[in-house]
Amino acid sequence: MKRILMTVVAASFAFSAHAADVKRGQELVTKAACAACHGEGLNKPVAPEYPKLAGQHADYIYHALKAYKVTNNPNIGRSNAIMAGQVTQFTNKDLQDMAAYIASLPGTLVMKK
Ligand code: HEC
Repeated sequence: MKRILMTVVAASFAFSAHAADVKRGQELVTKAACAACHGEGLNKPVAPEYPKLAGQHADYIYHALKAYKVTNNPNIGRSNAIMAGQVTQFTNKDLQDMAAYIASLPGTLVMKK
């Protein structure tokens, strides 16, 4: 019984170690000045070609950010010069944290439950 409890506790610690860190994501997004194009609260793009990001699902944002790392491949990735330059400096964990932060922002893109 004691062993089972230990396993459950260990498993929950392992999970939290992998959970996205919203606060860290906020720091990374602020430092990278993503709002310079995506606008205040990442919800008021400064030009029509820059998408709104605030409130978008974290999975979607993470997937998109990772896709910008892949360039010059006609089959996968997004090959966008502007965003490729933005994401190269970040690890996948960084992108995951940033995605969690972006998803937490109030926005008009998705229905909040
Ligand atoms: C110089 C302007 C600029 C800056 C700075 C910038 N972006 Fe972008 N971002 C763009 C443009 C342009 C697109 C659309 C690219 C395309 O067509 O795929 C875009 C697209 C995106 C998308 C895809 C959205 C979707 O709905 O598919 C995400 C996510 C994103 N940016 C996040 C970020 C983050 C996070 C940062 C800061 C690290 C950042 N951007 C900084 C210009 C910028």
